[in-house]
Amino acid sequence: MSRSVNVVVVGATGAVGQEMLRVLEQRAFPVGRLRAVASARSAGGTVTFRGESVTLEAPSPEVFEGSQLALFSAGASVSREWGPIAASKGCLVVDNSSAWRMDPDVPLVVPEVNPHRIANPPKGIIANPNCSTIQMLVALKPLHDAAGLLHIVVSTYQAISGKGARAVDEFTQQQAAQHEGREAPVSVLPGVLAGNLLCDWKHDASGYSEEELKMIEESRKIMELPALHVSPTCVRVPVRNAHSESVWARFARPITRDEALSLLRSAEGVVLDDAVGPAKHPQPRAVSGQDPVHVGRVRHDPSDPQALSLWVVGDNLRKGAALNAVQIAERAFATR
Ligand SMILES: NC(=O)c1ccc[n+]([C@@H]2O[C@H](COP(=O)([O-])OP(=O)(O)OC[C@H]3O[C@@H](n4cnc5c(N)ncnc54)[C@H](OP(=O)(O)O)[C@@H]3O)[C@@H](O)[C@H]2O)c1
Repeated sequence: MSRSVNVVVVGATGAVGQEMLRVLEQRAFPVGRLRAVASARSAGGTVTFRGESVTLEAPSPEVFEGSQLALFSAGASVSREWGPIAASKGCLVVDNSSAWRMDPDVPLVVPEVNPHRIANPPKGIIANPNCSTIQMLVALKPLHDAAGLLHIVVSTYQAISGKGARAVDEFTQQQAAQHEGREAPVSVLPGVLAGNLLCDWKHDASGYSEEELKMIEESRKIMELPALHVSPTCVRVPVRNAHSESVWARFARPITRDEALSLLRSAEGVVLDDAVGPAKHPQPRAVSGQDPVHVGRVRHDPSDPQALSLWVVGDNLRKGAALNAVQIAERAFATR
């Protein structure tokens, strides 16, 4: 990419927005002018980009004028309201929220999985999938290409940063309160997470949580497999950053552990950490801050020759959000 791109980051003070600024800088994305947007509460404050202060602005139509790229991570209602306005001003919108993911005219993209969907998005908007879905599909794509994915059973171990900066702060306060024998504060998280596990999403009448339904619907859309069976259980764990997943996948033909290891070893966006033994598996503490999805504990299912079990760890703020969005933008502007 040679020419510069004027960029608006919406949600620039948030957990994803801050990571977005870091990723743009680290990958030397050719940012010309950067405008940083947050809520009206933050307007007039600053964020830092390439060592310089950038003044925060509240959303307005003018903020998108003269820019070619708008990276949104300020929640679904902000994206619903301001995404089409940004697109009407000529920006390619890459949206991290759930607002547009299931719109048939909005591509839902993981560059390692369905890059062909990036060109010419009908509404000028491309959606970034849910963080848990992204890392799972980066790991499963090479296996699917070889053996044809039929069914995924996944249990997630999701980090607190996935719920935003305020949840991370509250978790820190909960830990301090527990340490000091005080009652732990509960307002952003649905309960005490320190020393605990929480099913941390709204549930519908079926008993599935919103996060689980996203994993089902988004996986089918991204993989272009409307009949794919996906059976998720999503859990928030007391880990600051990087989601872990226990994945069982069944394929259309038998697949051996050796074949899976060979496919994963050369897969785009994957690091295979397949050392065997206690604490040798990919761990969120080590994977936090890294770009690739780490896959380990690859096991053949002894009761089903067509099934494998995997352990998948990814940084939810990077590959699960900011990095994936910037990778989409890199590919989009490489051909413009
Ligand atoms: N965290 C993750 O791992 C992750 C992964 C994938 C997708 N996402 C999605 O990314 C989005 C942001 O998540 P997050 O974790 O970064 O949340 P967050 O830490 O709570 O940050 C939210 C950001 O949105 C801004 N904002 C709030 N209301 C606004 C408004 N009315 N107008 C403009 N900006 C507004 C906030 O600005 P103020 O500071 O001024 O309040 C802040 O910059 C969500 O849609 C989330 O679902 C998150």
